[in-house]
Amino acid sequence: MPRGQRVITVNAEDHIWDTAQRAGITLPAICHQGRCLTCAGKLRVSGEFDPSDAVGYFPQDCEAGFILLCTARPRSNLRIRTHMQAAMRAHRLRCGLPAPYT
Ligand code: FES
Repeated sequence: MPRGQRVITVNAEDHIWDTAQRAGITLPAICHQGRCLTCAGKLRVSGEFDPSDAVGYFPQDCEAGFILLCTARPRSNLRIRTHMQAAMRAHRLRCGLPAPYT
């Protein structure tokens, strides 16, 4: 996070963003549907997560290590850099994929 590292425990059935909010961590978000990219993060090391609740998440996003925290459910320990919306939008534009709010 911009102001240092935080550690939370997220149940496998919960979205990462929701658990962070309950832990007092306010992360950016607009749609909460996996569409707008505002909540984007990026994996710092490889890890597993379920992105299937996102309205718009592409294999190229996963290959590049991006994660939409509002709709992702963890499937392993994850180390995530938050506040990556601009980087993910730039990635989407490079790939010719939808990049809302750019
Ligand atoms: S808040 Fe819109 S994609 Fe997560």
